[in-house]
Amino acid sequence: MNKDQNLDTTKKQLASDLNSAKQSTDVEKLREQYLGKSSPIQKALQNLKELPAEERKAAGGKLNQLKQELETQINDKLTALREAEYNSRLAGESLDLDLPPLAASQGYLHPVTQELERIVDIFQRMGFSVQEPFMVDDEYNTFTALNIPEGHPARDMWDTIYLEDDNLLITHTSSMQNRVMSSKQPPIRTIVPGKCFRNEATDATHEHSFYQLEGIYVDKNIKLSDLIGTLSEFLNQYFETKVPIKIQPTFFPFVEPALEIMMPRPKLGGKLDLENFNPETTDWLEVIPCGPIHPNVLKEAGIDATKYSGFAWGMGLERLIMIKRQINDLRYFHSGRIDFLNQF
Ligand code: DAH
Repeated sequence: MNKDQNLDTTKKQLASDLNSAKQSTDVEKLREQYLGKSSPIQKALQNLKELPAEERKAAGGKLNQLKQELETQINDKLTALREAEYNSRLAGESLDLDLPPLAASQGYLHPVTQELERIVDIFQRMGFSVQEPFMVDDEYNTFTALNIPEGHPARDMWDTIYLEDDNLLITHTSSMQNRVMSSKQPPIRTIVPGKCFRNEATDATHEHSFYQLEGIYVDKNIKLSDLIGTLSEFLNQYFETKVPIKIQPTFFPFVEPALEIMMPRPKLGGKLDLENFNPETTDWLEVIPCGPIHPNVLKEAGIDATKYSGFAWGMGLERLIMIKRQINDLRYFHSGRIDFLNQF
């Protein structure tokens, strides 16, 4: 048989097959049929080695040329069909600009963000400015500048996650105290809301990542009563009622004396019930650790501790939000559970 004629009919046959192909998937099938592993052309290429050496080169050249031509025909058709398919899909996907938006499709803020905005707003109205912490910081700002020297056992109060370069993921927003105080002149009123990290086992009241809000107030003549007044007013505004508080001593190296503001603990998953409030029988919950700033911390930030005094606090935001929104497990916040998030 005349080989050239044979090659010629293959091209013609393909051209007619391609002509009747309606979809890109039809073309893919033709590619398999004409160029795939068991196609006549592949078989012919494999059989080349059986030809006498002097014929091999010319026959091989012809076969490869044919193969390329078939490929070009197939690719051209495929491109044309794909373009047509794309255009017809686009035509079917018209956008109705007059349609009212679906509420859910716009998304909404995470409950922690919603509450954080409220909390920040309360402090801003009291005259506090806002600064964000560094999530990765050094030991100096996280501990040393806060009256916790290297090797001091108080560092063990925080289960810190250290990084390979000796920096760390901040365990508390107090890490910004020194920077805030050394970069401003009193009066200083700043809050630092931010994410903190601890190497902790998680349970209903503990998470490895959580939000804190630090507050720093430095001026002349700042007294304990200023601290109590400010933070108690914050609680009243946040819970939209007069919140009874109790104060107990605790220990933090950067404040002296260290105090803990407590408020009535609502029943698990229940509302804060102040109507039947009885201070004797109420279960109290620590919500805001705080205290007058230790003179060593003021000095380290370049503030004259004989002229100025101040107070600081650092509260866990999720805990407050749990009380306000009657949530009984802290782990929901990071769970990404749609049924939880949809309630806010
Ligand atoms: N940084 C402390 C902690 O994580 C909380 C704290 C306590 C902050 C007392 C303060 C403070 O500013 O005065 O656990």
